[in-house]
Amino acid sequence: MAKVYTSRIDEDTIALVLRKGLMAQGHKWAVLRIALALSLKQPDPPGDELDTPEGGKEYFLEALTGRGQKESEDFVDAFRVLLSAYHGEDLFEEDDRYTHLLQRHIRRGLREIQTSWRESHDFHEFLRQELFAVQNLGNEVPVPDAGSLVHALDELGLSATLLDCLDGPRVTRHRVQFADAEDFGRLERRLDDLAFTLGIKDAGIFLAPAGEPKTAWLDIPRPPSQWSVAGTEALAGWTAPGAGLNLMLGVDIGGEPVVRDLTEAPHVLLAGTTGSGKSVCIHGMLLSLLLNRSPRELKLLLVDPKRVELSAYRGLPHLLAPIVTDGVEATRAFKGLVKEMEQREQLLAARGAREWRDLDEGAPPRIVLVVEELAALFDQAPESEDPLVQLAQKARAVGIHLVLATQRPDAATFSGLLRANIPSRIALTVLKAADSRIILDEDGAERLLGKGDMLVKWLGEQVVRVHGFNLRPSDVASLLQRVAKED
Ligand SMILES: Nc1ncnc2c1ncn2[C@@H]1O[C@H](COP(=O)(O)OP(=O)(O)O)[C@@H](O)[C@H]1O
Ligand SMILES: [Mg+2]
Repeated sequence: MAKVYTSRIDEDTIALVLRKGLMAQGHKWAVLRIALALSLKQPDPPGDELDTPEGGKEYFLEALTGRGQKESEDFVDAFRVLLSAYHGEDLFEEDDRYTHLLQRHIRRGLREIQTSWRESHDFHEFLRQELFAVQNLGNEVPVPDAGSLVHALDELGLSATLLDCLDGPRVTRHRVQFADAEDFGRLERRLDDLAFTLGIKDAGIFLAPAGEPKTAWLDIPRPPSQWSVAGTEALAGWTAPGAGLNLMLGVDIGGEPVVRDLTEAPHVLLAGTTGSGKSVCIHGMLLSLLLNRSPRELKLLLVDPKRVELSAYRGLPHLLAPIVTDGVEATRAFKGLVKEMEQREQLLAARGAREWRDLDEGAPPRIVLVVEELAALFDQAPESEDPLVQLAQKARAVGIHLVLATQRPDAATFSGLLRANIPSRIALTVLKAADSRIILDEDGAERLLGKGDMLVKWLGEQVVRVHGFNLRPSDVASLLQRVAKED
């Protein structure tokens, strides 16, 4: 009989869901099936690193899929159909392959629960958000032309002239002139109605003042099939200007590259729901740095509680330490960085310099700390917050910069001292306006298009909308081939 295998951590997750999530109403099978559903939400197939778990349990497929149960509970064929459709393969004949894929999905889903769900949160609400959010944000309906836009505005009681328009990579930006100065506010409150009148979803419509009186930019999204996606070429052909740590974050509404210096940030928080594009954005940042800075100029400390997202970077000469995957190690690594920070402060003082950029050649490399999932880390190791706050407070002066990502920008994860000391923010799509306000101090991120559509607020700047580069795992791998292995 075919079996799927779990690891010890998987078993802990299953036990926790049964105890705190499903409140003892469920069977282990229910947890495995939920995990499968969560995994099938992700667009990319799970990897083979999920094939050889240790220390867990084995489960007979027959029971998992309900074979031999009464007809209404026998889902054997349904499971095969689901996986065949997802992988584009006929899995009805290939038993081993089917079992392997099933195991990978289940284990990936369990990992998702482990990193994304916090015990104190309602499990059913977590599922609702994870299973029903963000996907298919695009809308495959015709793009409204200028005539229908004027008509729609007219139906909302706004008389407006379209001055000109710009076709960007994902949205069409119209410059609109209103008859009345109050019309801007009127339209701003009724963007949902405008979307409805145009017959498109409201995600992705943005309105902003265009400088002159009574004029505004009105951005109307096009369907994803009409997006022009910049990807690897943009990063591969780019040379970072200047001496800092420039990051190419993507392109703006008009398709122009958006570059920001991490040393000016000097720390960044990135937040958005699952699937909004955080990991892809982090790849873009890391590749911006790796393709332009030698290990002598830059060291990375990568913390990846999900264990898979950053594995492509294993073994690079830029790594300060092996990739950190658990909370205890992370706490130790953060404390190590605090020590490093204190030594660097002495170095600065000894050289009579105030800032890292004042040091001449031969200065120790800048260090960038990346945490892939802050909420997961704080769940695993609440004690990691203290040294992280210390770094956020003082590390900027000594060439150490933080990039922290989280899908839960709530007060428990991002509050108080951490928040106060991480002034640059990137919001990807979030579920609620309140989440947007936690990240950016303003609304908007709840209306983004998903897939790397983001609002970027760098220290001292206005918010800009950026479309991130589409970097698939294979793109990351091929760009990493170009990274200098030696000094
Ligand atoms: N800039 C982008 N352009 C196109 N698709 C993207 C982009 N960013 C993300 N995606 C799509 O969304 C999926 C989820 O992105 P990911 O970065 O893993 O999200 P998160 O880390 O926020 O859960 C990706 O696998 C990819 O299919
Ligand atoms: Mg991610």
